[in-house]
Parts: sequence; structure tokens; C-alpha cells
Amino acid sequence: MQFTYFGHSCFSVTVNGKKLLFDPFISGNELALAIDINCIEADYILLSHGHFDHVADAEVIAKRTGATIIANYEVAMWFAGKGIEKYHPMNSGGKWQFDFGTLKCVNAIHSSSLPDGAYGGTPLGFIIMNDEQNFYYAGDTALTLDMQLIPLFANIDFAVLPIGDNFTMGITDAVQAAKMVQTKLVIGVHYDTFGFIKTDHQKAMGLFKTNELELKLPAIGETIVL
Ligand code: NI
Ligand code: MN
Repeated sequence: MQFTYFGHSCFSVTVNGKKLLFDPFISGNELALAIDINCIEADYILLSHGHFDHVADAEVIAKRTGATIIANYEVAMWFAGKGIEKYHPMNSGGKWQFDFGTLKCVNAIHSSSLPDGAYGGTPLGFIIMNDEQNFYYAGDTALTLDMQLIPLFANIDFAVLPIGDNFTMGITDAVQAAKMVQTKLVIGVHYDTFGFIKTDHQKAMGLFKTNELELKLPAIGETIVL
């Protein structure tokens, strides 16, 4: 599976020939100035919650590409109100069979409001399951015992976890999260973008290694194969 990192918590994967883009926040990210949002392809845009640093570029990319927005009910309807015609509302605990595989929405411990202050529903994590690989994207979340449920739902090949601390879990809790979801491979996101979440990369990777786990921190714009 190809995984491309666009900075902060934004990444895309190609699954069963479909391009899934997660939490697009690029044009407002000073670290991602080299990324042109007009060049990003997407069949689906998955939004973990309503915060601006996860949805800022979703409308523009969805309108250009015709991608379907997948989000919790409140976030999906907010985008419907902006003229997005293709959207799929979901909520915590729900799953749906899409043409790229099965998507299950799981709990995230965080908050959610939209950029104009509208109620943003409950924040979500996502499990993507298909014939190739399964993975878990935690969204913005604290470490939570709910993560122990994830191995009951799917055998995870890798997890995309926030590591920046302050707004979400940091590296110590992310190590515990990897153990709970039972994966050895973690892609770190939600770090460095703002002053509050500046992260020591070597220390973070070292801590994972000490725990016999691997933390990958792809460069912004880099594509890795998982
Ligand atoms: Ni957030
Ligand atoms: Mn965030």
C-alpha cells in the first residue's frame, strides 16, 4: 500500500485502486508550502473531526476531484451545506462496505467543532479493512482503553497515530496505543506543525525502538510503501 504524507495529520493511501485522503490541512500549514492542493487526487476524503487543522482544504479538494466526504453526521452535513453533493455520514461504532473495503468508525477521546463554531459531533478514529492490508487511523485522541477493542475488529498491519502531545497523546502514550492495537508499525502524525507540538524525532523513534516497535516519520511530500 502506498502512503503519502502531506504534513500534520494529512495523508493519502491507495486502496483497491481508490485514493483515500485523510484530514486535509495543507494550504494553512507553513511546513507544507511545497504541496500544491490542486495536484492532490482523491476518490474519498475521510475527516476524523471538525477542527480546522483536519478539514481546512476538504471543500476545495472535494469540489475539484468530486471525492466523497466521509465523516461523522454533523461534519458531513456541514459540508453538504457548503454544496458538497457526495458525502457519507457515519458515527461511532458504525461500519460500511465501500468499494475500497470496509470502514469502521471507532472512539477517539478529543473534541470536535467546525471552523465557524458549528457543533462538530463526536471525533472518530477509523479502521480500514480490505484484502490487501488493514490499518487504524486514530484521528486526534488521547490514549484510551477503547483501543483494546481494535484487535477484536481487525488484525492491524499498521497504525497512524498522533504523537505531538498537548492536543493529543504524545510519544509515551502512543507506544502504549501501539501495544493495545497490537501492531509493531506506527506512522506518526500531528506533530511539529505548531509550537505546542514540536517533537524530537530521534527521541520519539528511539522510544519506539526500545519497546521493539517501529515509528516511521515520513517527510512531507514523501511516499512510502507499507
Ligand atoms: Ni483536533
Ligand atoms: Mn488536530
